[in-house]
Amino acid sequence: MTVRAPGKLNLQLSVGPQQADGYHPLATVFQAVDLFETVTASAREDDQYVLEMTMLPTVKADPGAVPLDETNLVMRAARAVATKYGITDGVNLRIVKGVPVAGGMAGGSADAAAALLACAEAWDVGATRDELDELAAGLGADVPFALHGHTAVGLGRGDELSPAMTHGEFHWVFATQGHGLSTPAVYAEFDRQVAAGERVARAPRLSDAVMSALMAGDPRALGSALVNDLQGPALALAPHLKRTMALARDAEALGVMISGSGPTVAALARSRQHALAIAAHISAVGDSDAVLTVSGPAPGAMVIS
Ligand code: C5P
Repeated sequence: MTVRAPGKLNLQLSVGPQQADGYHPLATVFQAVDLFETVTASAREDDQYVLEMTMLPTVKADPGAVPLDETNLVMRAARAVATKYGITDGVNLRIVKGVPVAGGMAGGSADAAAALLACAEAWDVGATRDELDELAAGLGADVPFALHGHTAVGLGRGDELSPAMTHGEFHWVFATQGHGLSTPAVYAEFDRQVAAGERVARAPRLSDAVMSALMAGDPRALGSALVNDLQGPALALAPHLKRTMALARDAEALGVMISGSGPTVAALARSRQHALAIAAHISAVGDSDAVLTVSGPAPGAMVIS
């Protein structure tokens, strides 16, 4: 059973002050893009869980950047399905990575979403969409969105989802880095900046400008409405990313931002053709490890074979 699930970027990522549970309240707008993780699950006769992984050539991560032990989100997703439905059989799991590792594009969350669906199908547990959503939220704040895909508003930790109305397709350039940024480290830098009085964290609210640009299918309006409160903290930890952002602006990107907690730089283009031109400019001059052109919205987790 093979399932693919998409990577994402956040068109809005507004972050409030840290709560007692350690998490931050978010008002976010996710868009899934056509960059996919694929997970294959096949039931075993014994009780072993076996995980292997290959990376597509565009994913330039350090080998070992993704642990293949019980901490891997795919393993945790498989265990969560087994526990919920009382499955005692083992499973062979295989990840094909197409989303950069620790890039702020929720590749690990896409793996978890794909694994939930692949295991539910391989073991034929008859899971409902609501049950998968609940398991997804238990695995990470971005996992429910990877199940659903398209464009959605996320409140709470980012896991309380509702679909967003959009029109047309948006064309993006992603400049990725081999060395990822840790999401908890970027949130910790956000907290440090708040404690030091360098930034103010307010209760986050959804951006009308982002929502209306999406509804109108207007990339120019979307480009100037993009917001990411984690951009400052990510750039404080990885200041060299400013050079890549400047290159995208030179090439007349409509909007340039850090994707999620970074370090991927996302640039919005006028068209697919313009995305290729921005990508060529960044690749020729810049120091990114890979430059990809993608479009969104893309569908959520789905069985492909
Ligand atoms: O939920 P997930 O494991 O994907 O989140 C990774 C880390 O990001 C959390 O451990 C937390 O440090 C941070 N986070 C947060 N507030 C959120 C989502 C994530 O502080 N709403």
